[in-house]
Amino acid sequence: MKTGVVDFDALLARLDLGAKVRLLTGAGRWSLPPLPEIGLDRVVMSDGPIGVRGEQWRAVDPSIALPSPTALAATWDVDLVRRVGRLLAQEARRKGVHVLLAPTINLHRSPLGGRHFACFSEDAYLTGEIGAAYVEGVQEGGVAAAPKHFATGHATADVRVSEKALREVCLRPFERVVRAGAWGLMTACDSVNGTTMTEHAELVNGVLKGEWGFDGLVVSDWTAVRTTEAAALGGTDVAMPGPHGPWGERLEAAVREGRVPESVVDDRVRRILRLAHRVGALHDAEPPPVEEQPAAHGAEPRGGPAIDGVALAREVATRAFTLLANDGILPFQEVGTIALIGAAAAEARIMGGGSAQVFPGRIVSPLQGLGERAEVRYALGTDPRTRLSPLPGPATAAFLDADGAVLSEQPLATAEARWTGQWPPDVDGDRLAAVRLRTTYTPDVSGEHQLSVAGVGDFAVTVDGETVFDGSTGPDGDDPARAFLSPPERRISLPMAAGHAHEVVVTHPAGAFGSFTVGHANPGPGEDALMAEAVRVAAECDVVVVVAATTPEVESEGFDRADLRLPGRQDELVHAVAAANPRTVVVVNAGSPVELPWAEEVAAVLLTWFPGQEAGAALADVLFGDAEPGGRLPTTWPRRLRDAPVVDAMPVDGVIGYRAWERSGRAPAFWFGHGLGYTTWSYDSIAAEGMTVTVAVTNTGDRPGREVVQVYVDGALAGFDVVEAAPGESVLTTVFLPERALQVWQEGGWRTVEGVHTVEAGRHAADPRLSATVKI
Ligand code: BGC
Repeated sequence: MKTGVVDFDALLARLDLGAKVRLLTGAGRWSLPPLPEIGLDRVVMSDGPIGVRGEQWRAVDPSIALPSPTALAATWDVDLVRRVGRLLAQEARRKGVHVLLAPTINLHRSPLGGRHFACFSEDAYLTGEIGAAYVEGVQEGGVAAAPKHFATGHATADVRVSEKALREVCLRPFERVVRAGAWGLMTACDSVNGTTMTEHAELVNGVLKGEWGFDGLVVSDWTAVRTTEAAALGGTDVAMPGPHGPWGERLEAAVREGRVPESVVDDRVRRILRLAHRVGALHDAEPPPVEEQPAAHGAEPRGGPAIDGVALAREVATRAFTLLANDGILPFQEVGTIALIGAAAAEARIMGGGSAQVFPGRIVSPLQGLGERAEVRYALGTDPRTRLSPLPGPATAAFLDADGAVLSEQPLATAEARWTGQWPPDVDGDRLAAVRLRTTYTPDVSGEHQLSVAGVGDFAVTVDGETVFDGSTGPDGDDPARAFLSPPERRISLPMAAGHAHEVVVTHPAGAFGSFTVGHANPGPGEDALMAEAVRVAAECDVVVVVAATTPEVESEGFDRADLRLPGRQDELVHAVAAANPRTVVVVNAGSPVELPWAEEVAAVLLTWFPGQEAGAALADVLFGDAEPGGRLPTTWPRRLRDAPVVDAMPVDGVIGYRAWERSGRAPAFWFGHGLGYTTWSYDSIAAEGMTVTVAVTNTGDRPGREVVQVYVDGALAGFDVVEAAPGESVLTTVFLPERALQVWQEGGWRTVEGVHTVEAGRHAADPRLSATVKI
């Protein structure tokens, strides 16, 4: 078979069975083995989705950190998301990455989902459109995207789901990105209707590769391949990570003994070669057809100049910030002093934890961003974090053998060590016995400081040569993902002197994770005193900005949330501050819904999601009105968890999110699609003809603005467009409805529902401004 001008069969014919099978398991954590004899380079993969981490799990080579996926979806702006994809391709090429393990296009089904921040939306159509733009942008830059986790994306569950709900809801975004031409795809760890996705021949071979004609590479989720024959026959192309796993010699034997046909192996190798060809990792080959030609790694993206990642991170953040309520206080006019309150105001939560983590070169906090624009008085108020922040560093990690000899040394930006079992290239894993982290800390204040070590296993901690801890932290439960993402922490209280350089050394036997953090906190006056100080500062300033955030302990990959409350005493803080000064703006720094019990007491609520590295700069742009908050909710925001119609369930009759709220007859705090700008709009006229809907809107305010015009068919989102207009200007937008908007899955196929359909245009799912009908 030929693709472009490469004869993959000829290359395949040069490989014996052993070489072909070896290619199907990772060479290590992040790459497939090279085969120089046929001109095949190592194919390198990396997470995704907010930046490209590269092969190292640490800050050696910083990455641009963009806002998280919920934020990207909140822009409702496919052109912007395509530019994001182009930037990610540029980052990937800079880091030698060929496959970006992103975007995550599983749906928000329950507000309690721990990985909610890493997915786009509760709506299958919005997810598909944003996902397709992301994939197209990445691939325009010559890098493969691998949307994940096919099909329903639960980490461990066996998801029981009807064919109708599967087709109309869960699979719809995947179908969209495959039709957009994705070169890769990752299957999930979970099972669907009793079969693990890694072995799910019906969905992978049948639907994905067969019905949709997917010709790309199906990558397993990490460690999800657990069987030899079933996974090989189930349609998964490569087992990650490697080099060990259930394939290798066992798969070779299965082929020799006729349990797995050799054609199955050949098809997978062809898929690897095709992908390698598309991303420029196959050298013997002729160049691919022009539309699939990658830019050379390290070069400019095809068809465009280099993208300024810092500027784009800031632009995306402002476009994603979602103004939920505003009594007119925003944008600020002639503000004197600002009381800035909250732990996250000084240290923003710019990204969610887990595989999405990257290490940015800089982080602009709200304190820094607002401080450059106005007179700011900062007060902590309360600190909801249950873990101490890493000692600021710089630090050095030494890799020691059993005799204590140094095998290698590495600089670290902070006292945070994360090798996740992948040691630096010059460290011989067989000789490695321990890792020793050394740093110097010079406090600003004298008193009883807190030091901590967070990690799993044994640690010896010395300060100025004195042992202050020597013992084991002990595992916190037996879930390895949780142990890695949220490890136990041991605290040590000790006196430190202002201006004195204290030497802190932590030694840890090299274990599977090679991951630990040395934390620190200054002596503090106690929570009640901090709260009282914040209230006093709030009362003395013209306006108050409180930044309220979730913490990694309550919102992260690896576990679901127990409730939707802001952690710690943050609600109490907002009530108290708003009582002291009604001109209070609350900035909500969370990746997914939280309850806002004080919403009626404050002047404005601005949702910043996990805003990426330019958090504070973007916040200043929006609060001072240099940019409009452009976001609209990609997911319904419940008032209280107990109101949510779906808390931990799969779609019933193909319905989740706002459709389930509509059916329940209850109103959420804010509907899907809601978000205010800084101007006002009138919805003037609608015309629907066949699959084309035209809507006219006018900017009725006194400043230029952007509006997300949303079109719903029979109550479900079916089209949207971002328009811009000057004060008094009217604009016309045309939205093309997708075929699926008028179809249902019935008796094994898509059926167009004949009759009269209601087409509405409006500002959110429950705010129809204009209505028309189409007859099919
Ligand atoms: C996650 C994937 C990720 C992979 C590699 C898995 O645990 O589910 O989303 O791409 O790890 O980090």
